[in-house]
Amino acid sequence: MAGPYRRIVVLTGAGISKESGLDTFRDKDGLWTKVRLEDVATPGGFARNPDYVHDFHNSLRTGMAGYSPNAAHEALARLEAELAARNGGRLLVVTQNVDDLHERAGSRNVLHMHGEILKIRCENCGTVAESREAIGTATICATCTTPGYVRPHVVWFEEMPFHMAKIGVELAACDLFVSIGTSGNVYPAAGFVDEVRRHGRAHTVELNLEPSEGATLFAEARQGPATDLVPAFVEELLAAG
Ligand code: APR
Repeated sequence: MAGPYRRIVVLTGAGISKESGLDTFRDKDGLWTKVRLEDVATPGGFARNPDYVHDFHNSLRTGMAGYSPNAAHEALARLEAELAARNGGRLLVVTQNVDDLHERAGSRNVLHMHGEILKIRCENCGTVAESREAIGTATICATCTTPGYVRPHVVWFEEMPFHMAKIGVELAACDLFVSIGTSGNVYPAAGFVDEVRRHGRAHTVELNLEPSEGATLFAEARQGPATDLVPAFVEELLAAG
């Protein structure tokens, strides 16, 4: 564990939101056992059946207010505030999740590399807007008033994740990299620990219900539910100064 750390990057995946009631993707009861990702999370699926893809995203978007952050989200928000108070330490959360639970727990420094379910984007003019409503092929863009181009502002397979340049800078500069609740199946996020190791300066920790695909790449790996592991880990970090 060592420490104290001053530039922390935390990567989160669906596992951190599981105890808030949101499905993961690849667990035995995961989302990809219920719907085919090719049908709901690819540009081809959207082109084949936009109504089906909108319905899939609409149910998550309109239902998001019904979920609450859990103790793991809250511990990360506490860590960010404490680090900032202690001579300008920094915590960046890079999340693969499209929910808003980190923000609702109080985290301010969050990058959504796979987009956000509570935002919609016009493919005609590029406008990104907040929305908690159901959208569809008839939805008109409020900016360019063109119908038929508004889509969920989330990253589908075969599309480039957001914020990659900034994430690369932060991975190079961090002194602690923590991965929480991700199976390590999907790149580029699954390659972040290798990128950090190549810079040779940060301690690397995985906090996950079970060892991920890349668990052996981490200097330290702990197994258990995020609501147990993350608050305890944050307390250890804060006690280390
Ligand atoms: N606490 C901690 N970890 C948990 C918990 C929990 N309560 N429950 C499940 N996990 C772990 C699982 O063991 C698994 O390793 O969370 C991980 C979830 O893995 P995935 O379902 O593959 O989710 P994720 O890694 O976030 O997927 C990455 O794939 O489908 C795409 O875009 C989607 O962002 C997603 C990306």
